[in-house]
Amino acid sequence: MAKLHILRYPDPRLHTVAKPVKEVDAHIQQLVDDMIETMHAADGLGLAATQVDVHERVIVIDTSDMRDDPRVLINPELVFKSEEMSFSDEGCLSVPQIFDKVKRHARVKVRALNRAGETYEFEAEGLLSVCVQHEMDHLLGKVFVEYLSSLKRDRIKTKMIKKTRDELRA
Ligand code: NI
Repeated sequence: MAKLHILRYPDPRLHTVAKPVKEVDAHIQQLVDDMIETMHAADGLGLAATQVDVHERVIVIDTSDMRDDPRVLINPELVFKSEEMSFSDEGCLSVPQIFDKVKRHARVKVRALNRAGETYEFEAEGLLSVCVQHEMDHLLGKVFVEYLSSLKRDRIKTKMIKKTRDELRA
């Protein structure tokens, strides 16, 4: 396994729209394993392939308490979205140390392929529902800060550019 580099906002590659996976082969399984390692190492709840500059529809999520139960979502689709919406604080490994409230569907039902390439479905609410919607946005080239006001977004952009520059200097 290998840890992958996570793109940081406002890297334009984060706005790439991912393509469906044609076949869950050894190459995709390796990507999945590397993404899980990268997510756990960065202490994230989820990671989309877009964030590691691979533009295929692959997501990993781990909202388990022990951080030992990763879910793999390949070619995910929402087969149900509740009309009820809810607000919660979101963060993102591509936008470190920034948290803000985003409105999402309170409950969703997801259909995806797992690491073995088998179709499965699950219903999600609460944190898992938020994670699924957040990560699926990444596959469409959308970062959560795009739900915020342009004023806030510009501030975050400036902060991230400065942070990246400071780290390169250090
Ligand atoms: Ni994210």
